This record gives sequence, C-alpha cells and structure tokens, in this order.
Amino acid sequence: MRLNRIRFLPEGISIFVDESTSVLSAARDAGIEIASVCGGEGTCEKCLVRVLSGRARMTDRAAALSERLRSEGYTLACQTFPIDDLVVEVPIESRVTFAEEAIKHIELEVPEHEVGLNVYPPSPMAIKVHLKMHPPSLTDNVSDLKRLLNAVKRVLNDKREFSQVRFGAERPISVSIDALRQLPTAIRAGGWEVTATLVKCCDHWEVIRITPGKDEKHVYGAAIDVGTTTVTVHIVDLETFETVQRLAKYNEQFVFGEDVISRIAHVSRNANGLNELREAALRTINSLLRHAANSLNISHDDIACATVAGNTVMTHLLLGIDPTNIRIEPYIPAVTAFPPIRASDVEIAIHKDGYVFTFPCVASYVGGDIVAGTLVSGMVLRDELSLLIDMGTNGEMVLGNRDFMVTCACSIGPAFEGSGIKCGMRSVRGAISGVKIDPTELDVSIQTIGDAKPIGICGSGLVELLAELKRAGIIDMAGNFVEHPSNGKLRQNDDGDIEFVLVRSQDAGIGRDITITQADIKNLIRSKAAVYAALRSMLNSIGLRIDEIKRIFVAGAFGSHLNVRRAIEIGLLPDLPEEKFVVLGNSSVKGARLALLSQAAFDEAHRIASKMTYIELSVDPGYMGEFISANFIPHTDLQQFPSVKHKRGD
Ligand code: FES
Repeated sequence: MRLNRIRFLPEGISIFVDESTSVLSAARDAGIEIASVCGGEGTCEKCLVRVLSGRARMTDRAAALSERLRSEGYTLACQTFPIDDLVVEVPIESRVTFAEEAIKHIELEVPEHEVGLNVYPPSPMAIKVHLKMHPPSLTDNVSDLKRLLNAVKRVLNDKREFSQVRFGAERPISVSIDALRQLPTAIRAGGWEVTATLVKCCDHWEVIRITPGKDEKHVYGAAIDVGTTTVTVHIVDLETFETVQRLAKYNEQFVFGEDVISRIAHVSRNANGLNELREAALRTINSLLRHAANSLNISHDDIACATVAGNTVMTHLLLGIDPTNIRIEPYIPAVTAFPPIRASDVEIAIHKDGYVFTFPCVASYVGGDIVAGTLVSGMVLRDELSLLIDMGTNGEMVLGNRDFMVTCACSIGPAFEGSGIKCGMRSVRGAISGVKIDPTELDVSIQTIGDAKPIGICGSGLVELLAELKRAGIIDMAGNFVEHPSNGKLRQNDDGDIEFVLVRSQDAGIGRDITITQADIKNLIRSKAAVYAALRSMLNSIGLRIDEIKRIFVAGAFGSHLNVRRAIEIGLLPDLPEEKFVVLGNSSVKGARLALLSQAAFDEAHRIASKMTYIELSVDPGYMGEFISANFIPHTDLQQFPSVKHKRGD
C-alpha cells in the first residue's frame, strides 16, 4: 500500500501514512496535538486545518463546512484523508497548548475561608528518618532487619515526643523487598548509619528506600489533580510543607474527545480504547512529574508518595478500570473508594515502591475532585449552610454543613470552556477574558489573557459578553438579537446565522473576525440554565431556599476568572450579595496537597464522601421545568434576580 507524506506546518514535521489514516490521527502520531472536542466524529469543527498543497479525500462532513472556510483552504482534520503527499497548516486556534500560564495565575490567588493544617494536624504521608545503630557483636547478634526496625521505632517515638507533627509511631512497620535488598550493603557502607524513607500505607509504615549514612535530601510528595481538560501537579516538600513546584498541562486524553462522555464512548468502541486513555493520562502526569523533578534537581525516587483527585471517570481511566457503565442507566461506577496503590502498579513516575492515594468518589458524576474541594472549603466543619459549585463540562455542586451534605451533577456542555462556540477557546494567552460594550456607540473594549492579540473568547469572557450584550440591548431576555443601529457589527454570516463582531480581523491574532453568533448565545444560555436549574432542583428536593445559603464556594479554573456580578446578571449564579461568594481556585489540587500533609485530612475526605447524599437529577420531575424557566437572561421569574436591573418590556 502506498504511503503518503503529510508535512505539518509551522513545525515542518513529516509523517508517512496510508490513505485510511485521517490527518487528525497522523498529527497525533507526529506529536502535534489538534483539538478534537467530538473525538473525531466530524461534528465539533474544532480540528480545522488548512491543506496548502496535495490532494485529499474529504467526507461529506468536511464538505459541509461553510463556503468561506472551504475557499480559504480549511478542512476538518478528522474527516480528511491523504490521496497523495500533503502540506497541512495547523492554525493556532486548533491547537491544544500548555495551560501553564493560565494555571499559574489561578494558583497565585489566595482564597479566604480555606482550611488547611490549621484545622487538620500535620502528619505527612511520607517521612525520612536518620538512623544510628550499634554494630552487631557475638552477644548482640540480631539480624540487620531487626536492628533497623528497632532504630526506626526509637526515632519515631522521639519525634512524637518533641514535635507537633504526628508521626504515627504506634503503626506497625514493614519493609519493601527492594529496601531489604539494599539493607545489608547500605547499613555497612554507612558505618551503621542509614537514612530510611517511610511511606504510610493503610495502618502501617513501609520502609521503601535505605541509603547509607545521613542523606540530607528532603522527601517529596506529588499532589495531582486529574481534570478532564487539565492535569495539575504540585510537588510538596514533606519536611518543610512548602509547595516547591506547580505545573499544569492539557490532559493528553483530549485527542479522544473533550468531555467524559466521548472518552467513555472511545472505550466502548475500541478494544484498546481503555488502554489508550490510561496511557494518555499517564503520559500527561509523568511528563509533568519529570519536568518538575528536573527543574527541582531531584530524582523521581525522591518523590515517595502521591495523592490523586479527579472526577469519577478520570479516576477510572487513570487506574485502567472500565468506566462504561457510568454512561448507561442506572449510571453505576465500578469503584468509589480506592485502596492505596503501589506506584509501580499504576505506573506513576515517582519512587516505584511509593504509594498513590486516590480521593474517594461519591457517584458517577461526583468524584474525588469535588470531595477534595469540599474538604478545603471547610463547609463540613461549619453550622452555616454553604454551597460549593464547580463548573466545567459538567457542573457539580454540594450543599450542606456539619450535619448533612447533598450533592448533584448536571451536564453543562463545553460552552463555558469555549467549545461548541464559534470563536470559543480555553483560558490561555490571547483569549478574551473581559468585555465591555458601550450601549450607545456599541464600541467594544476587550481584555485578553497576557495582553496578547485576541485569538478567541474564553469562558469568563463569554459570561461578560452575554451580560454586556443584554445590558446594551443588543439581545433580549431570550437571547435573540434585536433590531439595532449596530454600525455594521450585527451581520449575517456565511452559514446564514446572525453574529455580532467583537474584533475585526485586522486587530485579531487569527486573521479573521472574532464574533459571537446567535447559535452561540443560545448554547451559552442553555449551559447557564442547566447550572441554575440544578441548584434550584437540589434546594427544592430538601425544602431549602436560595437565601438560606450563607456562603458560596466557586471552584475550578472557570470560576477563578469569573466576574461574579456578571454571572449573576446572566442568571448563572444565584442573586446573592457578592460578599457571600468565595473563589477557591483549583480546590481539587489543594485538597490533594492537604492530604499529602495530613492523614487526618485524607481520613476526613473519606468521611465527606460517605456523608454525601447524591441526588440524581435525571429522574427529578421538577428539573426540566426549572431548566425551561432558566432559559432566559437572567430568568423568566425576575423576582429571583431582584438586584439585576431590567429593561422595560423584559
Ligand atoms: Fe474533527 Fe470534531 S470535527 S474532531
């Protein structure tokens, strides 16, 4: 079979593939990551590339692209197959890029009302102890192992006596086989002095490493948040309790579909699908761990343990557990509580005998990330009624206090993550994150991440844009564009859809106008309606009112950039005083970090998970009514949004 060469620009990377391989798959094999929200179904139009030369076969889906895009040479990478050699340009807006810059911005914010080692006593998951032993003699002839264990017990007891940190000296101690193999040489090479690395596992300490003499190097832990979109790794010094490195990267599973449903579908349709997804998650985590270790000048052996928090599907995929039944009624996960797992068994690149501690999940769509967020919010410790809300492609929320906790999840769709929106994109450099529209002239002023030339609109920008379009009277309550002297900013596009122009092509970084279409607006309204309807349904089911909520914790990347006032104006968040809202940032990785440093906090996470009552909204008879009422800006019942100014006729 003839192989065709595809050369990708601007990298100039070439790869040879047969005629049955799509340009998307070829790019993936060449190490070029192209966005593929629909997993290659040809429906999301996020994998746009330009064929600059050569002949290609295109499916009907690619041929259905707008006339304008086709005339500019654009096609769908997933629906295009080489007939002969091709030169393909991958534009910036179709790329999956590092999110490090945006994540750094999020992590620098210090939220109020967060709990940590002030509440949960420090008790790290791994420690290093320096041991001094008497050499053996004919009268003191116990084995090397007994000598080592006695020394460990002595040191742990001393540490307990003189330190605020709890070391769990009463725990039994075991030794890994590799550490046993190191023992006789290390103990003698060090002149009866060694340094031992111990990791907690269930009810015992395990010695996983023995080095001769006094090893001054510190021991580290990795706190890992496995998000559907982004994977975040924090490296924590378990001796100083300092976070010494923070890194984040798009989850490489992205190429198999953007949301959890398309990834489960990939597992169901492909014999090797589960393995592909597991390996993609591991590649992402391990590249971050490697990068972190290199930048800190430490070895992966110095990272003795890891805590992992992720949604239920991500957790299943990472551990190689089939998540298929999560998608099928009655939506049952295979596992919700996970035992400690040896790092080598799960192939996470820390010390191979170290342990990985996974946050417990609650139900199919409420996972360990939400449990971790609930932990750091401290809502489980307070009398007042609090709400935690995390908005991504799924919206999860937890309502409760020290006495009770209820939780639910709704499908928001990827609109606020920039997908399914013509010029939508993620919160990376160049994304429009803030918008203002002058109501008389309709002049638009924008803010972009990194002050770069705009290349698209991210979630927080979309919330502001929707609010500004409504304020300026460009759209009505239902989100329809209204007749307006618009200075040419409202127009019909090639697809016959009405769109509003935010940025003209000459000012944009993508050589095209940046616009928002009527279809985009309807999509965003449906997404925000899903969140508000879920909140109302959850409150209705337990007989509570919105005004009884004393504090709202907004978690996740989207929440970190969110303008709360604008989110209230469009009816995404409830109309409560702004001082009740607390932005938590990435509470999933913060919970994972807290668990690394405190066994009590990890135990609390398990109590939180078992305390939560899950409300399945798909069988809630009131949900659809709430959803329909919320499909307006801000809502059909304006009394629910008294602080939002309305125009006459609303
Ligand atoms: Fe190609 Fe969605 S249209 S991946």
